[in-house]
Amino acid sequence: MTSYFDTLLPGPSEGMLQGLPMTIHREEQSMTSTVFITGATSGFGEATARRFADAGWKLVLTGRRKERLDALCAELSAKTEVHGLVLDVRDRKAMEQAIATLPAGFDKLRGLVNNAGLALGVDAAQNCSLDDWETMVDTNIKGLMYTTRLLLPRLIAHGRGASILNVGSVAGNYPYPGSNVYGGTKAFVGQFSLSLRCDLRGTGVRVSNIEPGLCESEFSLVRFGGDQAKYDATYAGAEPIQPQDIAETIFWILNQPAHININSLELMPVSQDWAGFSIDRSVKG
Ligand SMILES: NC(=O)c1ccc[n+]([C@@H]2O[C@H](COP(=O)([O-])OP(=O)(O)OC[C@H]3O[C@@H](n4cnc5c(N)ncnc54)[C@H](OP(=O)(O)O)[C@@H]3O)[C@@H](O)[C@H]2O)c1
Repeated sequence: MTSYFDTLLPGPSEGMLQGLPMTIHREEQSMTSTVFITGATSGFGEATARRFADAGWKLVLTGRRKERLDALCAELSAKTEVHGLVLDVRDRKAMEQAIATLPAGFDKLRGLVNNAGLALGVDAAQNCSLDDWETMVDTNIKGLMYTTRLLLPRLIAHGRGASILNVGSVAGNYPYPGSNVYGGTKAFVGQFSLSLRCDLRGTGVRVSNIEPGLCESEFSLVRFGGDQAKYDATYAGAEPIQPQDIAETIFWILNQPAHININSLELMPVSQDWAGFSIDRSVKG
């Protein structure tokens, strides 16, 4: 007979595990689960890879910086099975090739963490570089789109308990000066996540969008073109969220009972709130 706890458990080995305590179910389940994480060479992606490795999930890790990826894969191989893919998410052909040829043992996914992304600059729109805008659209929108579409069949094959976790941002919900195209790409992530849920009705595949505020990572070095002083000023005295906090949140979302979907989750450090409406007082009547 199926107990209440059995109905909470995702994945293909449910039947085999019936009758065992739930904690054992979860451990057994994680041993057979694989998560695909984009942008694992730093920040949230790297911390998330470590968190899932600690729980025994198999990992497919991607990023463009080969040396970092190789080092992380070598380190985490001591804990679990890891497959590294040096990939630029903007390169559709390379993505198609790599995903079509995922090795046996990594080809059935329970989780996809669409994390790779970036912001470039905080200039007003009228002063921005179109190249930077294109890079953000190509990475944050098109890269996420390619990864999702190419991996959907593998997530659907897993079915109940599988998850897509998209990394959006508070910038997708609230505008601030200089958020322009970055905010627009993250608004796409939010709406795409909601729409995906409708399309995936009946497949058991869940979709979540996390929307972090101020977090300390190389994100700000990239945004400010490597300017360490601007990076330091961004976080000074603010006790920002750390990548490990985000990793813990992602792990929690993917390990919810299979009948629960966390639609969106917005996080900020306590030190951060909203600036309120601003008014131009130079207007002459
Ligand atoms: N930090 C924040 O305050 C914050 C807040 C809200 C949302 N986010 C979002 O969180 C996600 C992760 O950011 P993070 O804070 O962890 O920043 P991060 O430390 O700079 O990490 C970004 C990751 O994305 C990868 N990446 C960037 N462009 C790529 C491309 N074209 N192809 C493949 N991988 C690419 C980078 O790897 P390679 O350079 O090796 O390719 C890196 O692993 C991003 O989507 C970001 O927009 C960040």
